[in-house]
Amino acid sequence: MSHVAYVNGRYLPQKQAQVHIEDRGYQFADGVYEVICVWNGVPADYAGHLKRLNRSLNELRIASPMSDGALTFIVKEIVRRNHVSQGTVYMQVNRGVAPRAHPFPTGNVKPSVVVTAKHGAGPAESVAEKGVKVIAVVDQRWGRCDIKTVGLLPNALAKQAAAEGKAFEALLHRDGIVTEASASNAWLVTKDQILVTHPVTNAILAGVTRGTVLKMARAAGYKVEERPFTLDETKTAKEVFLTGTTTFVMPVVTIDDRPVANGAPGTVALDLRQRYRAYLDGLTETAWNV
Ligand code: PDD
Repeated sequence: MSHVAYVNGRYLPQKQAQVHIEDRGYQFADGVYEVICVWNGVPADYAGHLKRLNRSLNELRIASPMSDGALTFIVKEIVRRNHVSQGTVYMQVNRGVAPRAHPFPTGNVKPSVVVTAKHGAGPAESVAEKGVKVIAVVDQRWGRCDIKTVGLLPNALAKQAAAEGKAFEALLHRDGIVTEASASNAWLVTKDQILVTHPVTNAILAGVTRGTVLKMARAAGYKVEERPFTLDETKTAKEVFLTGTTTFVMPVVTIDDRPVANGAPGTVALDLRQRYRAYLDGLTETAWNV
């Protein structure tokens, strides 16, 4: 099926969609993005993604390109025109097109907006049933990992190292502390059955899925601590799992080829995965409300 993309005011077949060579997203990674899961044609955690997009824009002092309502209209159109039932929407907003110079352009430069869609949401259930391998990789990112910028080179290099090691993800660590993974948030379960995940600081992306799973876990009666944890603690944890838009809740069964506990997916991770799936299955048209 041919894909339709929204690019700066126009809906185009994706093959014909183009951006300018002096787009600052291309030249300086001067832009932000969101990836949203679409489940049965409606978005998961849509309000959370829009809120984070606006926050990222604000942190970089990129003008908001349009109202939330106008952007929602476009996202809905992209879902509809691409016939997305289970899939993802990608949206990027960057500072726009200007002759290459490091400072922000002066004058009336409009932010660039691109929205695309892909079919297929989350890894197959069989992947989660078996659990996944991860490798530990030094976190080489900048000091503002809380901003969801398109500057993803360290993440891409870490994910490539994982792919070359036949692993699903790269667990990022800095000074012994696990921050998150290359495209998901990291969690562990202690021997005392306490769930632990890195607090929301500049060192991690405040995952929208992380926030939803955190609420679900607390509502289900689990004890959750948001505190830094070490790579050593992760390797000796009772369970380790990942959360994210393209991951849902994913049990980790080995780290650097060493099993986590008995090397089988943990019961907490599987329970939270089921709860997250039930949340997705329960989404209705009201999911578009912001
Ligand atoms: N990435 N941490 C990082 C570094 C991420 O890139 C992502 C998501 C997450 C999870 O956040 P959320 O739950 O809001 O998806 C955590 C997206 C999926 C991507 O880059 O494709």
